[in-house]
Amino acid sequence: MRNVFDYQIEYSGLQNRMAQMFDPKSGHTVMLAVDHGYFQGAPAGLINLRETVEPLLPYCDAVSPTIGGLKTSFNSNMRTPIILRATGGNSMRMPDELDDEIITVSVEEMLRVNAVGFTVSCYVGLDCQSQTIQSLTDLTDEAHKYGLVSIGITAVGADPVLTKFVKGEREDGGELTADDKKEAIKYLKHASRVLSENGADIIKTYYCDGFEEVVEACLAPIVIAGGTKRPTKEALEFTSNAIKAGAVGVDMGRNIFQNEHPVAMIQAVRAIVHDNKSPKEALEFYEEIKNKS
Ligand code: R5P
Repeated sequence: MRNVFDYQIEYSGLQNRMAQMFDPKSGHTVMLAVDHGYFQGAPAGLINLRETVEPLLPYCDAVSPTIGGLKTSFNSNMRTPIILRATGGNSMRMPDELDDEIITVSVEEMLRVNAVGFTVSCYVGLDCQSQTIQSLTDLTDEAHKYGLVSIGITAVGADPVLTKFVKGEREDGGELTADDKKEAIKYLKHASRVLSENGADIIKTYYCDGFEEVVEACLAPIVIAGGTKRPTKEALEFTSNAIKAGAVGVDMGRNIFQNEHPVAMIQAVRAIVHDNKSPKEALEFYEEIKNKS
């Protein structure tokens, strides 16, 4: 006996592009974020973008550069799916205006460079909330005509309260209090849900304790950004916690390319994301690769 669900009625380009970004076995993804220069200028680890990226590419399921980074520092022969940063216009030289982001890449340009998807930073709760959510909805609407995947990022700019949540520490470097942690869950849960309600296919957000609540409340799959560089063990621990809590992968930058051994680090992250290794096992793997190299 058959029923209608045995047939795929329509091939979907969007689903096919999603499939390119995710490992078919684990259903998870390790995306490498190298787009930081769009507002940070030349951060440590990305001064020579080409040199940073080349040894890491074999270990990425997708890579997230800016349009300028892609055109100058990547080889057209590469086969890694591209997730293009599609918003910007801000700069750390004006921290108070970090949330003032606009669309910087057209859908036509995304297609020209053969991107499978794009990222848009949305500043929920900040001055430019509606402008940045509108960038997400406008681009998603246009890009979905061609089956490109939209990723909404819950960005926090320089807001002192929100940056505390994403850094996982207080302004003075001290540990978050129980109240801070509750507020972090509340904010990240709210912001992720808002972006999913506004039509993002994937949400990129930051890890916090109690991340299960963020995942549960979000209508779309979640990947985590890594945030500021942490010690290797700590970065592997929060990656593992995020995956256990239901994240479908990472779109991670500084905790990989600013690590003392980026190639070992990305493989250790993969071991957690794809092979379900514990942080301890992943750290041993990291040490093993590091010592060999
Ligand atoms: C902001 O610069 C971008 O959205 C980054 O791609 C994002 O923050 C992920 O990079 P990281 O893991 O360094 O936070």
